[in-house]
Amino acid sequence: MGKFYVTTPIYYINSEPHIGSAYTTIVADVIARYRRFLGDDVFFLTGTDEHGQKVYNAAKEAGKDTETFCDELAEKFRSLWKDLKITNDGFIRTTDPQHMKTVQYFVEKMMNNGDVYRGVYRGWYCVPCESYWGDEELLEGNICPSCGRPVKRIEEVNYFFRLSKYRDPLLKHFHENPDFVEPDFRRNEMLRILEGGLKDVSITRTTFSWGVPMPNAPGHVIYVWIDALINYASAIGYPHDTEIFQRYWPADVHLIGKEINRFHSIIWPAMLMSVGLPLPKKVYAHGWLTVNGQKISKSLGNAIDPRRLTEVYGNDVIRYYLLRDIVFGRDGDFSEENLITRINADLANDLGNLVHRTTAMVVQNFGRVPNPGPMEGPDTQLVELATATVHRYHEGMTSYRFTQALENLWELVRFANKYIDLTEPWKLAKRPEKRERLSAVLYNLLETIRLVSLMLLPVMPDTSEEIRKRLSVEEEPSAQQLKWGLLKRGNPVVHGEPLFERIDPAKWSRVIVTRQEKGEENEEREERALITIDEFKKVKLRVAKVVAAERIENSRKLMKLKVNLGELGERQIVAGIAKHYEPEELVGKLIVVVENLQPAKLMGEESRGMLLAASKGEFLRILTVDGEIEPGAEVS
Ligand code: MSP
Repeated sequence: MGKFYVTTPIYYINSEPHIGSAYTTIVADVIARYRRFLGDDVFFLTGTDEHGQKVYNAAKEAGKDTETFCDELAEKFRSLWKDLKITNDGFIRTTDPQHMKTVQYFVEKMMNNGDVYRGVYRGWYCVPCESYWGDEELLEGNICPSCGRPVKRIEEVNYFFRLSKYRDPLLKHFHENPDFVEPDFRRNEMLRILEGGLKDVSITRTTFSWGVPMPNAPGHVIYVWIDALINYASAIGYPHDTEIFQRYWPADVHLIGKEINRFHSIIWPAMLMSVGLPLPKKVYAHGWLTVNGQKISKSLGNAIDPRRLTEVYGNDVIRYYLLRDIVFGRDGDFSEENLITRINADLANDLGNLVHRTTAMVVQNFGRVPNPGPMEGPDTQLVELATATVHRYHEGMTSYRFTQALENLWELVRFANKYIDLTEPWKLAKRPEKRERLSAVLYNLLETIRLVSLMLLPVMPDTSEEIRKRLSVEEEPSAQQLKWGLLKRGNPVVHGEPLFERIDPAKWSRVIVTRQEKGEENEEREERALITIDEFKKVKLRVAKVVAAERIENSRKLMKLKVNLGELGERQIVAGIAKHYEPEELVGKLIVVVENLQPAKLMGEESRGMLLAASKGEFLRILTVDGEIEPGAEVS
């Protein structure tokens, strides 16, 4: 029996969980259930990240003391996971005293290894991301490159971790373990960061106290990310409960969202190297979900409680939809319309009908699992496809290609329906001399359904159990039973209600209706989706002609442009476009700039205004004008 240790990120408890936060946990649950099904000794960990400025501020805003606020929110996460039938073995809270002691122990160990020193941190901090940023990393206008919100300038005497020392060992590890970080495009992003060199990171804060105290350093609390990452070790007993820790460490997979990859694939492994622990086997960074095409946000009113969705559609159905429709690793949209389509097509029509038609005919004609018979006609094709599906299913599940695994499984479900049409058992039932053939056909169908129900177990545990009940399969489900022919003859078969109800989209009212759709005002100004024309008019956009362009020394990102704004004269603009353009390409271009932006200094250079550019992932293109027009012309 192998062991398998799977983790989710620990969730900030500044707000309540939504379908985006439930996504990682549901996928982790699918993996945990699959590994148990394979026979592994599984430890599945989730929890809450309760320290740091963001949680502290949220408690203050809620008018509660921080401990009470954390207790309440942690309970909301814990009870949500229970309601969603998440089978986590551990639930860690970073305010657990045991965890806090481990964090201190861990950091002291890093210190004893010469990896922690005192210094001054001068730079930027993004509270929503709890992240430090350097000048060169910010977007124009002092914006966080990860979440797009304004950052704060901070200057503090801090303790630093010598991350730079681990750049070469990390590069070596990445090269020797090509699937350490997945998907490969996320790995490549990390490789690019490593190749560019690593800076040491600040690991303490002094301006607030909601955190783990830094040992022997009064006034310093340990940076929330260092505290949080250590949860993966502390939750399984490090350093005191060596037996459990040694049983499960290293983690087989840390599941995370793409925006926290750097912490998990660079900082955490370096911390582990510093204290001499083995690295996790894999970090899998998934994409982000939108809901009905929109970013999930409280102010839009679409950050709904995932319970609501499961109450209306069913827990298994939501799990199936998330795993089938959202390609794991990529960004995806949780669309209620697509969900309904999946329910009607894949669940009610394909799977539901297969079970319904088959059990009805068995109950009518035999009442029990009938005898198998000699192979005839499409039988071999069905058996061969079932065997091949088992193989493909495991391939998909072990490589985290869930969509693929489910698509393969549904090929079998659909073929089984086709098999009914080809063999026409309802006709066989009318001819007593064909009773043996009818028995064989129905046996083959029941056996296919049994295999499908087993393969469905990790994704749709309740449906899987319900189907097995209808076939009176009593054995504890295990991957060992994924072999053709194990269904016991004579087992009573139950017909039962249809497994899934069809939904008529014309009569159906959706669960997720945004405030905008309801015609309500959004509450939070900061994140409002809509602005008025007057608000837009405050931004003065003008056409500018680039007169000169030059890279800024010591900056990989920034370029300074001299632009002509016609009657407004010439001025300098600093833009983060140096990775995307050569200075010569820009001279003479007619671009669009925000003319009335407050002046700012970037890397010592004055910037008066901002150019407009479009970016997606790694790509960035500046906005130019379609044809000739006088510089200074207004854009509206
Ligand atoms: N506390 C840190 C993690 C520390 S782990 C040592 C954190 N918390 S978080 O609450 O902000 O995010 C937790 C997880 O939820 C992340 O993996 C994040 O990607 C995921 N999601 C939050 N919103 C999401 C979507 N809209 N879509 C998919 N996942 C997203 O970061």
